[in-house]
Parts: sequence; C-alpha cells; structure tokens
Amino acid sequence: MSAASPAKKSTAAPAQVIPMAAALGAEVKCRDVRVLTDEDFQIVHRAALDHLVIVIRGQTLTDPELIAFGRRFGALDCAPLAKTGNEKARTHDEIVVVSNVMEDGRAIGVLRDAEVVWHSDNSYRDQPLSFSALYSLEVPDRGGNTGFANMYLALETLDPGLRQRIAGRTLKHDMTYNSAGDLRQGFTPVSDVRDAPGPSHPIVRTHTDTGYDALYLGRRPNAYINGLSVEQSEELLNVLWSHATQPEFTWHHVWRPGDILMWDNRCVMHHRDPFDAGARRIMHRVQCAGDRPAKSLEGKTGHPRSSMKI
Ligand code: SIN
Repeated sequence: MSAASPAKKSTAAPAQVIPMAAALGAEVKCRDVRVLTDEDFQIVHRAALDHLVIVIRGQTLTDPELIAFGRRFGALDCAPLAKTGNEKARTHDEIVVVSNVMEDGRAIGVLRDAEVVWHSDNSYRDQPLSFSALYSLEVPDRGGNTGFANMYLALETLDPGLRQRIAGRTLKHDMTYNSAGDLRQGFTPVSDVRDAPGPSHPIVRTHTDTGYDALYLGRRPNAYINGLSVEQSEELLNVLWSHATQPEFTWHHVWRPGDILMWDNRCVMHHRDPFDAGARRIMHRVQCAGDRPAKSLEGKTGHPRSSMKI
C-alpha cells in the first residue's frame, strides 16, 4: 500500500463499511475521498480486501484527484492500451476513459455500448492488474450495470473431482480480443486456441495480500487449458465457467454519477451489461499494477466473505 498522502486529523465519524446482501461487495461510507485520513484509508483498503469490491458514492473528483486516490492502493499501471481502433482513450497517462461517447467523429473511450463479457482485467499480460477503479461521470438511465463474481467462493465450492482435474494446471489467456469483442490492432482472429497469443497462468492462484486461493479464469473466449486436447479443455472450461458465474456468486452495481467502484482482479471477475447506444456513459478508470499470478503451497481456502451471513 502506498503512503503517499500525508496524515490528516479529522473529527468526522470513521468510515463505515456496509456489506451488500450478496456473495461479495460492500458500500463504504467515508465522505470525501480527497481528504481521507490515513485511518479511514486503512478502513477503505481493508474493505476492498475483505469484500472484494467496494462502492463509494457521491464523489466529485478531478482526474488528478482520482489519480491520487488510486495511488493510495499501490503503483498505478500506465501501460499503453492494446489498441482496438483509433480511440484517444486517455486523459492522463494514468486514466483510461471507458465510454461510448463520440466527439468529432471519434470515440473518446473504449468498450463502446457493448456487453462486456466476464473477465479479470488484463489477464492476458504476464503481470495482470491488482485493483481497478471506475469513477462515473455520466451514466445511462438504464443498462450498463457492472456485475462481479466471487472467485474465492467459486473455488471453495468446486466439486472435489473438478478440483482434482485442475490441480497444478495452467490456463492460456488470449490477448486477441478485448472484453467487448473487438479485435485488437496487430492481431488476427484465432483459429486454434492452442496457438492464441498470451501468457499462461495457474488456474488456481494465491492472493498475495490475503493468502487465500481463488479460481483464476481470466476470460472465456479463446482460453485453453495447457496439456489437454482442445475438446477436453473446452468441456472443462465450460463447466468451470458456468459454475463460477452462477447468480449466487455475483453482485451487480447500478450506477449513479459520482460513484467510485473499486475491485480486486485477483479474486473477482466482472461483467458489464450493454446499454442504449443513444445514451451517454462516461467513466474514468485508474488501475494498479499487479504481480505474476502464482499458486503457493500455503494458499488457504475459506475466505471469510464467502461464508458471511448478512
Ligand atoms: C471494464 O471492464 O473495465 C468496464 C466495466 C464497465 O464499463 O462497467
């Protein structure tokens, strides 16, 4: 965790964490994130690790203020976007614009108004992201909700026979398409998943901060379980994906302007509903650098959020 912000004294009530009545998620009530004390930031950071995804409502942030808030969770990732068109989708090196809005005939952001398939951010990189945060500037009246799935819970509830079948296995994460299904520049469509470009990561990874194991599936299109035939890999992946994305393991956020939604890619997947192409949706995203996924021998099962009674 970064200690970039100076300690501030406050007489306000401490931040409150209110779990969602679902398999993951919490609202954190902490007033203005621009002036969070170090004590309150500890509560926010702890809530993100304990509840996997948090929402903080009612914020009014400039881009530099969003960057400063994101930095408190760790070094921000500024890697160039894997391009899917001629977007000019950054306002700063640290900020990615997620939007369907067009200006002067060009998209100001990425992901359009499309459904965004279940995924974990940047799993197609050697070192995928840890936290991602979206800050909402404009939202449509309906649609465009963002859903999350608890991947600790997905692993814990996996049938023992399936757990055995994935033990020690790695999964190849394709980088050809983005999560809205757009072909990235410089890539060609995949005809054999075994040849898809992208790194391999363990299917079970140990979260470096919590020490708990989680299922790590990345995204479904063009995934391949190394060492299996394509047919065996497809069959096993289909079973794992329908298990991991069952509604009981998910929570869906309905946006309002001024929301900050922060999630932990090491233990959740997320999904976005499509929305009306005529509506405007503008989000600014910051994202924290992560580490190379690994399975530790000491990885624990039974993350407390999975058995929380609400
Ligand atoms: C994303 O996958 O980062 C975008 C999610 C969203 O637009 O709600």
